[in-house]
Amino acid sequence: MSPFRLRTAVLSLALLGTGCESEAPFPSEDELDELNILHTPSARPEVDPTNKWGDNPDAAALGHRLFEDPGLSRCGTVSCRSCHEGEGYTVETPTAEGCGGQRTERNPPSLLNAGYNRWFMWDGRADRLWSQAILPLTNPVEMDSDAVVVRARLVAEPTYTAAYTQLFGTAPADEQNGDLLLANVGKVLAAYQRTLNRTDAPFDADVRRFLQAVQAGTAEQDPAYLGLKTFVRKGQCVVCHKGRALTDDKFHNVGLKDAGPGKRGQADAVEGLLSWVFNAAGVFSDAPTGTDAARLSALNTQAQSKPQEVVGAFRTPTLRNVELSAPYMHTGAEKSLEDVVDFYNEGGDADGSFVGVRTETIVKLDLSSEEKQALVALLKSMTGVAR
Ligand code: HEC
Ligand code: HEC
Repeated sequence: MSPFRLRTAVLSLALLGTGCESEAPFPSEDELDELNILHTPSARPEVDPTNKWGDNPDAAALGHRLFEDPGLSRCGTVSCRSCHEGEGYTVETPTAEGCGGQRTERNPPSLLNAGYNRWFMWDGRADRLWSQAILPLTNPVEMDSDAVVVRARLVAEPTYTAAYTQLFGTAPADEQNGDLLLANVGKVLAAYQRTLNRTDAPFDADVRRFLQAVQAGTAEQDPAYLGLKTFVRKGQCVVCHKGRALTDDKFHNVGLKDAGPGKRGQADAVEGLLSWVFNAAGVFSDAPTGTDAARLSALNTQAQSKPQEVVGAFRTPTLRNVELSAPYMHTGAEKSLEDVVDFYNEGGDADGSFVGVRTETIVKLDLSSEEKQALVALLKSMTGVAR
């Protein structure tokens, strides 16, 4: 028996029969398992087999320039960077401004660590980073562009033409298939975004030290004790924000107020994704029959068999670098991390202010002010070091 388990056993025996409220020592074996998988992610995202150029430095260099170029938009004033600005690659307002002063419906997520995601957009309507880029490019509210505008921009700038031709073997002017041109541009934009990683955070060092303290039997004295305990036990945060990326890569209805046209979340995204010409099982994918195809078919089965679970469901975002992405949630309604913690403490927003059924994990938490503060401090410690 490990010293830790021995201590647990003795303590629970001591509490038995005393009549006082007994709480099992933190962490239990199950909780320890959750803590053990919160390790620092690898420095680079896993290879994306559907994008042959995903880790190509020349592609990333071209992608970086295109990311900053408002000339890819039809109005000529909006680049990817317009809505993914600053250190957090997002905006400080709930929504962002596209062509002609139009506002997006949702809050732009940070692009830090985007290469680690398994689904894209709050509702999951893109399944790979390269195809995601085609959505803002062609969205009338955002860049309002198309293959004609994008091709013209590549042709007008000789260094773009040279880099594109070298990577794809065809000059942009000769690329007759507009969808292929957009997919290629998406792939270089993805190659760039796959370099925007901040993985190593004070949080990781704290977790490692805490695990040692558990071994040594001094967990309760560790400065991270209350924050981790609240995150894992009372707050149940780790149920969804788990593992290296602090997300389960799934979609949940947390009961967030939303009366906008996209309030049904994943429920309105699945069908479009399955029939989308740019999905990872489609003709523009570099591995159309690989695991991505199986992933899409599993998604379909799940949406068909449990339709109630996708209504009002949004993707669990990573919590890494979360301090840099205020305001929060898909609506951008929560201004600070304190507000997010209050939201969870209340068990979400009022019934009737969102569609669908709130998932059962989201309940009133009764957190003390110390627990709330410890949770906020923990979230702030998740900001990774810039490389
Ligand atoms: C007008 C503002 C705007 C522009 C321009 C814009 N985005 Fe976004 N971006 C958003 C919003 C809003 C979302 C979330 C949309 C949603 O989930 O429905 C988003 C989502 C994303 C995501 C998904 C991140 C995630 O974690 O799911 C990526 C990646 C991204 N944008 C990259 C880009 C790229 C690349 C470009 C340029 C081709 C771009 N964006 C242009 C506003 C913008
Ligand atoms: C049932 C799964 C689940 C649980 C439990 C959960 N979350 Fe979340 N979390 C989500 C989902 C899904 C979203 C996005 C919700 C939306 O915008 O509709 C989210 C969003 C967030 C955000 C906003 C991130 C951003 O970039 O906007 C923070 C911060 C957060 N959660 C922290 C926590 C904390 C702290 C706890 C524990 C008190 C917790 N979560 C519990 C699933 C969960």
